Amino acid sequence: MPFISCREFPSRIEALSTPGANSIELWGLSAPKRIKSRVAPDRLIKLCCEMDHPGSWFPYMNNDNLTAIRAEGLTKTYGSGESTVHALRGVSLSVPRGEMVVLLGPSGSGKSTLLNILGGLDSPSAGKVFFDHEELTAFDDRHLTQFRREYVGFVFQFYNLIPSLTARENVALVTEIAQHPMPPEQALELVGLGKRMDHFPAQLSGGEQQRVAIARAIAKQPRVLLCDEPTGALDSKTGIVVLEAITRVNRELGTTTMVITHNAAIAQMADRVLSMADGQIQHTEINAHPCAPAELSW
Ligand SMILES: Nc1ncnc2c1ncn2[C@@H]1O[C@H](COP(=O)(O)OP(=O)(O)OP(=O)(O)O)[C@@H](O)[C@H]1O
Ligand SMILES: [Mg+2]
Repeated sequence: MPFISCREFPSRIEALSTPGANSIELWGLSAPKRIKSRVAPDRLIKLCCEMDHPGSWFPYMNNDNLTAIRAEGLTKTYGSGESTVHALRGVSLSVPRGEMVVLLGPSGSGKSTLLNILGGLDSPSAGKVFFDHEELTAFDDRHLTQFRREYVGFVFQFYNLIPSLTARENVALVTEIAQHPMPPEQALELVGLGKRMDHFPAQLSGGEQQRVAIARAIAKQPRVLLCDEPTGALDSKTGIVVLEAITRVNRELGTTTMVITHNAAIAQMADRVLSMADGQIQHTEINAHPCAPAELSW
């Protein structure tokens, strides 16, 4: 995603659209919102927006037809000889920008292995991963670390919060090193924890702790949010509140989102459902009418 140069005026932004772009997004840093406009390629465009906080907007050029993540022929094997485990046996997929994807499958089918490879936490034995135009699998370690830090938000089953820091401080740990973070308070508001910012993890319920983990993952405004069984440790009512927070991030910030779950009911809220078995994607289903988490029959 190229960050383009632009000129800011009290009531508008002028930017030059980049070749191939068909829309521009302005992201408000002081408030988690975005304004999207169609553009013609290679033109100077003028965008009007309420510059209530001048200096706090930044523009992205988009090609909406682009895929966010693409994988080709991924395999992953562990061990050798008779003890070889084939965790992935040739996975290819394509995830359009902004989609909510649910990855379903039985235990051991390779879901976490796949998610970790797509997010640059692990590398495949063979195959390629592309993130927008860039080939992740060609990056060296330094580049991969930088990629994860800037572009990927991870949420795991167990929240991994630092017990001695408040919710706000846990989120601030990430925003201090990010390039275009939103304020920690904003991220916590977005997941419905505006009133619990100064609580320590031990003073929060499991669902609230998971929402702090989501706020921490999205505060750096990642391009993808990868969640490995985010509701695995929660009861259904709390799980739905957590899924609502994830859905809100996906819809309001446009963050491409992948959620691993064992729970087939959760698939109803996805735009796309990938079903894995034995290291392969068995089928892909497109859901034309995803439902809201509150409507899930759990
Ligand atoms: N570090 C490792 N060393 C050896 N085998 C591994 C390793 N990590 C994963 N595996 C194996 O790879 C396979 C896929 O594991 P993975 O964790 O991706 O499954 P999963 O679908 O996420 O399962 P679950 O739903 O239980 O989390 C399993 O057979 C697992 O035992
Ligand atoms: Mg797993």
